[in-house]
Amino acid sequence: MSETVTPMMKQYHLLRRDLPPDTFLLFRLGDFYELFLEDAVQAAPILNVALTKRGETPMCGVPYHSARVYLEKLLAAGKRVALCEQVGEVQTGKLVQRQITRILSPGTLEDVGLESSTNNFTAAIHVHSKKKNEEAIFSFGLAFIDLSTGEFFVTELSNYEALLDEIVRVSPAEVVAPRKIEEALPLIKKDLSSLELLEDYLFDPTSAHELLSSHFKVQSLDGFGADEVPMGIIAAGGLLHYLTRKLRRDVSHLRTLRPYHHHNHLLIDATTQSHLELVNSRAGRGMTLLGALDRTKTPMGSRMLREWMVRPLSEPAAITARLDVLALLLDHPLLLGDLREELSGIRDMERSLSRLSQNSANARDLVSLSSSLGRIPHLKKIGASLVAAVTSEAPLLQKLIDQLHTLAPLHDKLVSALVEEPPATIKEGGMIREGFDRDLDELRLGASDGKKWIASLQEQEIQRTGIKSLKVRFNAIFGYFIEVTSSNLAHVPTDYIRKQTTANGERFVTPELKEMEGKILGAQERSKALELALFQELRAALLDAVSKIQETASAAGALDVFSSLAETARLYGYTRPQIDTSTIFSIIEGRHPVIDQQLREKTFVPNDALLDGEEDRMAIITGPNMAGKSTYLKQCALLTIMAQMGSYVPAKKMHLGIVDRLFTRVGASDDLARGQSTFMVEMNETSKILHHATRKSLVLLDEIGRGTATFDGLSLAWSVAEYLYDFLKARTMFATHYHELPDLARTRPGIKNLNVAVRERNEEIVFLHKIVPGAADRSYGIAVARLAGLPHWVIERAQEILVNLEKAELNAEGRPQLASHWMPQRRASRKQVVEEGPTLFD
Ligand SMILES: Nc1ncnc2c1ncn2[C@@H]1O[C@H](COP(=O)(O)OP(=O)(O)OP(=O)(O)O)[C@@H](O)[C@H]1O
Ligand SMILES: [Mg+2]
Repeated sequence: MSETVTPMMKQYHLLRRDLPPDTFLLFRLGDFYELFLEDAVQAAPILNVALTKRGETPMCGVPYHSARVYLEKLLAAGKRVALCEQVGEVQTGKLVQRQITRILSPGTLEDVGLESSTNNFTAAIHVHSKKKNEEAIFSFGLAFIDLSTGEFFVTELSNYEALLDEIVRVSPAEVVAPRKIEEALPLIKKDLSSLELLEDYLFDPTSAHELLSSHFKVQSLDGFGADEVPMGIIAAGGLLHYLTRKLRRDVSHLRTLRPYHHHNHLLIDATTQSHLELVNSRAGRGMTLLGALDRTKTPMGSRMLREWMVRPLSEPAAITARLDVLALLLDHPLLLGDLREELSGIRDMERSLSRLSQNSANARDLVSLSSSLGRIPHLKKIGASLVAAVTSEAPLLQKLIDQLHTLAPLHDKLVSALVEEPPATIKEGGMIREGFDRDLDELRLGASDGKKWIASLQEQEIQRTGIKSLKVRFNAIFGYFIEVTSSNLAHVPTDYIRKQTTANGERFVTPELKEMEGKILGAQERSKALELALFQELRAALLDAVSKIQETASAAGALDVFSSLAETARLYGYTRPQIDTSTIFSIIEGRHPVIDQQLREKTFVPNDALLDGEEDRMAIITGPNMAGKSTYLKQCALLTIMAQMGSYVPAKKMHLGIVDRLFTRVGASDDLARGQSTFMVEMNETSKILHHATRKSLVLLDEIGRGTATFDGLSLAWSVAEYLYDFLKARTMFATHYHELPDLARTRPGIKNLNVAVRERNEEIVFLHKIVPGAADRSYGIAVARLAGLPHWVIERAQEILVNLEKAELNAEGRPQLASHWMPQRRASRKQVVEEGPTLFD
């Protein structure tokens, strides 16, 4: 480095010193953000800009006006970005004061490149460990914040698996945790690629309480229900600490803390969420359940629908309340249409509000909030008409209507203050309407009178000097001047003061011109400053009402979700599911919601399902490839989720006893990142199901044991099925290609066989996609092989071997050979198995 460090570089180093690691410093220099030294070397290739040098110092820069795209690139590369702005006045020869105004990280991206239909959460984990029999047992607090919408959630998880599942559900852009977590869970950085480890002290329990209490200005956090989630609160404290102190974000718009509990929800683990393609699919959003159901009109609604979907309810009363609202909307299609029309005029209130409180809003945010608020009175009116239309009570709908605040005085003020299409910047004026502020009107009048005077000056001076080509002009450097060409210089009056010589002539000013220029520019400057002040006043007025506006936005979002679900139900003829605490699982003429909407030429073949959870607890589904087994299982899972999130379902009838957890095990995929083989992944997933499923769960197994030798696989599948049926007693559907597995039905009364019907026509198999009772005809594998043109000899020999195999299948009493030698303890109670577990099977 050079010996003489310039004052500016001194300033740079001083600011750079206090930044968190892995943060690029973008240093504002006039119209550019510059990066220096190591930052520049690293960032230039990410930004795809040239690396240059200032003296010995490597540097690169991006234009301030198009900074967004570049910021996105840096954040996408997993870096944090500190923005350093010029805060003092620029004076020649003096170093301008600079300050770090914001630190952006992937989770705090705000609206830079944000998709409005998804949340952008930053999450924090707190780990708690306890020793039990020399073994450490971990439990977790989890908190997550979306700064762009002001949402703040906390919860607790009783084990590591549950933590990972919840993080997948929330899918935060960034996760932070205390450094010590890595000692406890060495694998965590592999499991959570977006994890950032922070100093342990940020997660100190006492300071967490102090920080949160002072943020919410409360004596105790119990009012938020915080006492129920003590570990969650520590995570919340750490998170707030990280956002405010480390990233220096303004979090004043976070107005409530929302603890939630898992026992109030249908738990869907991470694998199930991805198998079922609830919100993401490699085939695109159109293939997801969210894609099939989302007809929301507002960004708030779209985000909330996703939330409802990944976290459905598990209390019949709460679900019924939602279904009641849907029923009401479906009974009144005209009001539903009105509601949707009105909702389509509501913009992203949550994000505008958040930009306001973070001081990154412009007048367009005010206009957007104002126009959204303008829709609220009518929205309330439609809601009231709906409520009035029923004789019974509609408490949930009524509550949402009560949460819509019209805020008429505020709205009126915004309407009278703001022009309809204000500019994107708040410093250049042009935001405030004429007639709103007398001082502003006067300043504007002054400036425009001055301009008129100048406009008339040219004519006047031509008259006075006789120079026909004389021009009065303006440029940013000299301001107003009079231009005279070289040939006319002799006629210039004596009171002209020469300013500049150009190629064709000279430029002059006069004292009057300078005076008028001062007046105009002064008036313009003052009117810009006044507009900015008025903008800040309006901003403050909105922020005063932040809680009410947030509540309004969230109620509008909920109404949007309801009307979207109602619209989908109306379009595709969905029906209301019956929900209770039984263990029934009954679907009549159910359809797969996604495929049903996608099929154009053909129609989806509807199918029934029935497990009563008492006697009938398990169905084994066989059938050739491509028959529709996987589709059927997924359909059962998706309808369960829809019913429990409070939606109508694509079925003629559905009766569901609440499901506490939904498990699926579908197909097989390698998890190379964790060094696990296909079969290992499959067994891990199966193991998780066997450890967690309860009598209230729904378990859908799509082929188990295919990843290993046939006999091993079949034996495992058989024994897994027995365990599920005998001990866990969960409602289970099991699709399989093992044609021996249907023999299980001979050993247990509550296991039944289903197969997917096919018809053979002229050597061709026609898939009927119809689920029918009984096991599949066993000869299809060989029939398909024949269709594929295998040599005649091979087909016949295969048939011979098949007969041999089948002969050995049943014993003298007609019971399957496979199932013989079963252990007498098989009749043990569930309690025994849980307590003695492993020994029973030794
Ligand atoms: N009920 C139905 N109505 C119309 N089409 C269906 C139906 N069920 C399945 N299909 C279509 O059949 C195709 C195959 O279905 P699916 O993948 O469920 O078969 P599968 O029995 O699981 O096959 P494999 O044994 O190879 O896994 C799907 O792409 C789907 O579009
Ligand atoms: Mg399949």
